[in-house]
Amino acid sequence: MGRMTKPGDRDRATYDDPMFVASYDRDRALQPAEQAIADSLGPLGQLDMVDLGVGAGRTARHFAPAMRSYLGIDYAPGMVAHCRRELPGFRFEVGDACRLDFVADASCDFVLFSYNGIDHVGFEERGQVLDEMARILRPGGTLAFSSHNANFLPEIVARFCWRLPLQDGPRAVARALRDSLLFRYHNPTLLRRMPVAQAVVNDGLHNFRSSGICYIRPDLQVRELRARGLQDVRCLRHDQATFIDGADPVVAALPNPWIYYVCRTAPAG
Ligand SMILES: C[S@@+](CC[C@H](N)C(=O)[O-])C[C@H]1O[C@@H](n2cnc3c(N)ncnc32)[C@H](O)[C@@H]1O
Repeated sequence: MGRMTKPGDRDRATYDDPMFVASYDRDRALQPAEQAIADSLGPLGQLDMVDLGVGAGRTARHFAPAMRSYLGIDYAPGMVAHCRRELPGFRFEVGDACRLDFVADASCDFVLFSYNGIDHVGFEERGQVLDEMARILRPGGTLAFSSHNANFLPEIVARFCWRLPLQDGPRAVARALRDSLLFRYHNPTLLRRMPVAQAVVNDGLHNFRSSGICYIRPDLQVRELRARGLQDVRCLRHDQATFIDGADPVVAALPNPWIYYVCRTAPAG
C-alpha cells in the first residue's frame, strides 16, 4: 500500500532537486551560534554526534572530522549522495528525523538539527522529532536546533505586502507584485491573524516551493522543551555567539529571523 503524503514530503522533493543541492553546497561556514554551541561542548573528539537534516554537508565539513563518531542523516537522497561523494570516510544515511529507527537509544552525546530543518515538519510531528532527538542521546547529552521566530513574521509580511521597489524598475516591481499575490494565495488567513505566537507560513522559501515553514515565539519553544523534560534550555540569536538563559524574560521578545535552542537530557541517576 502506498504511503500517505505528509505536508513535508513536498519539501523533500525540493531538497532532492540537484539545483537546491548545489545551492546549499555553496554555503559552507558555521553560523556564529553554531560555532558557540560547538565551543561549549568540550573536547569534540570524545563525543558521538548525529547531524540531522545534514543537507549538502555544511555542518558535516566542520563536525565530522572532529568528532569521535559522526552520522549525518537527511530525508532527501540527493543530499545524502552529495555528502557521501564530498566527505568519503564519514557515515551518511537517508532517514526521516520523525523516525530514526536505525539509531539506537542513548547512543550519542550531541544531536544537531541545524538551519531550521525542523521547521519543515508540522508542529505535531515536531514533537516526534524532539522525542527522537532525546531518545538517541545519552543522559546529559546535548540537543540543539534552530527554528524560525514568530516575532519576525511582521517583517516577512511587510516584505511581501507593502514594499514595491519602484527605484529598481518595472521588472522588479512586477516580480514584487507576483510574490505579493503568491504570498497571499499561500497564506490566506495570516494577515488577519497577526500577530501570531506560532504558525505555519509559506514565506517564499525556494521560490514558494515549500509546504510551509513553522514559526514559533521563542518563549513558547522553550516552554515546550521543558515540558518534554529537557533541561538547561538556552537560546542564541542566529547571528550571535551569546547564550541566553531560556528563563530570561528577553527571550519572548527576541526579534531575530531564527533562534538556536540548546538543551540537555537529564543526567544519569
Ligand atoms: C534548510 S536545509 C539545511 C541543510 C543543512 N543542515 C545546512 O545547515 O546547510 C534543511 C535540510 O533538512 C532536511 N530535512 C527536512 N526535514 C527533514 C526530516 N524530517 N528528516 C530529515 N531531514 C529533513 C532537508 O532535506 C534539508 O537538507
